[in-house]
Amino acid sequence: MSTSDKIQLWGGRFASGPSATFEQFSESLSFDQRLADCDIRGSQAFARALERVGILSADECSTLLAAFDTLRQEARTPAFYDGATDEDVHTLVIRKLKANVGALADKIHTGRSRNEQVSVDTRLWLREQIDATTSLLVAFLDELLALARRYESAIIPGYTHLRRAQPVLWPHYCLAYFEMFLRDLERLQQARARVNLCPLGSGALAGSGFPFDRHAIAADLGFDGITRNSMDVSGDRDWALDFLYAASTAMLHLSRLAEDWILYSSEEFGWMELGDGVTSGSSLMPQKKNPDSLELIRGKSGRVFGSLTSLYVTVKGTPMTYNRDMQEDKEPLFLAADQLAGCLAMIREVTATVTLKPAVPALAAEESWTVATDIAEALARFGTPFHQAHKLAGRLVLESLNQGKKPLDWTPEELAAFAPEFTPALAEFLHPARGMQNRSVPGGTAPAAVAAALAEAADRLNAFRPEPSRS
Ligand code: ARG
Repeated sequence: MSTSDKIQLWGGRFASGPSATFEQFSESLSFDQRLADCDIRGSQAFARALERVGILSADECSTLLAAFDTLRQEARTPAFYDGATDEDVHTLVIRKLKANVGALADKIHTGRSRNEQVSVDTRLWLREQIDATTSLLVAFLDELLALARRYESAIIPGYTHLRRAQPVLWPHYCLAYFEMFLRDLERLQQARARVNLCPLGSGALAGSGFPFDRHAIAADLGFDGITRNSMDVSGDRDWALDFLYAASTAMLHLSRLAEDWILYSSEEFGWMELGDGVTSGSSLMPQKKNPDSLELIRGKSGRVFGSLTSLYVTVKGTPMTYNRDMQEDKEPLFLAADQLAGCLAMIREVTATVTLKPAVPALAAEESWTVATDIAEALARFGTPFHQAHKLAGRLVLESLNQGKKPLDWTPEELAAFAPEFTPALAEFLHPARGMQNRSVPGGTAPAAVAAALAEAADRLNAFRPEPSRS
């Protein structure tokens, strides 16, 4: 691009132009070019608004709209950006428009500021990103529910402090993650509601000097409504922070799931086998099968949390209203959105290809006194005060450890000799599957409660599917 082609949206008041250092330092085109399609759509809606207030004639408006249509096509190809040294995407689009329609392009920015334009572009982009992320998350949760159902009656030890605690059903464990991710879907929708408001008409900070029908512009761009204060629009990035928080929490949940499955698929746990397609080998150690996909999910969560922190710190301390600091919002936003989308696609594949070896966790639950609580509670149900029952069950565990006995090694006679409270009815509770049946409160791990929760989960997930395929 020759310097004579170059346009600037603000040159008049300056005797000389920006230095090369400042130009290079302050440009945002290298990253905000990603907003080009949204910028052009926003400008098309704005052209229609300018026609409605009489700044553009019907002919001028249709000339601009047609030129913008061409630019939209061109903006999908790398050539559109080749050699461009414009300050930002808004300047690039106007330069291209001018090359296409000439002086008429000078009217498009009437009563508009880049402060509201950058807000509208980023909101449009983020709305689409949230919808795409929602679909990816729903697709992953479909797989998670399928994985829960594949081993519906498998028993695993549930852990606290990473020590075997109480037996639970495998689908109960899967549903715990389902709950976390369903809240993430809710948080994404809550963020979307705040993102999906139209700021156009706010001007630089004081409201536009032209009598735009702001509701009509909002409807034109598919927004649910309009923002309510022009100063707020220029300085506000809460809506981006809302998304970053939702994205960070989803990454937090993905990271914890990744950590679980890295452990469960290790030789030390040995209950899970990850698909060959999502693992990698070692260049030196021929036997290795490493859980890199899960490690990367865990690792990438750090970058997403960093994006949230980055924007928080960027906005903190900026005086009302717009400050150029705000240009620093986009890279963390893009990074977080990209990483979350990539991690969701990856975890879906890991979930679809993982296999459980149910006998291994079942044995782990059986041989390690995860039933001790069931026994104490059964004693309490048969009349022993709980503190005494707890002590008695604890003594049974200690005695077993001393004798090198597993729970199911005890015969009814030996138990009765240990303490008269240990009747044959009580001995049933040495089997992990027995005590579980009593945990039938809503949210508990009894088979009936888990089956009900699984059925409800499928219904609850349906509420987040896009309208047409909602079943
Ligand atoms: N590139 C700028 C940004 O992302 C656009 C707004 C510029 N506004 C201004 N007053 N310099 O924030």
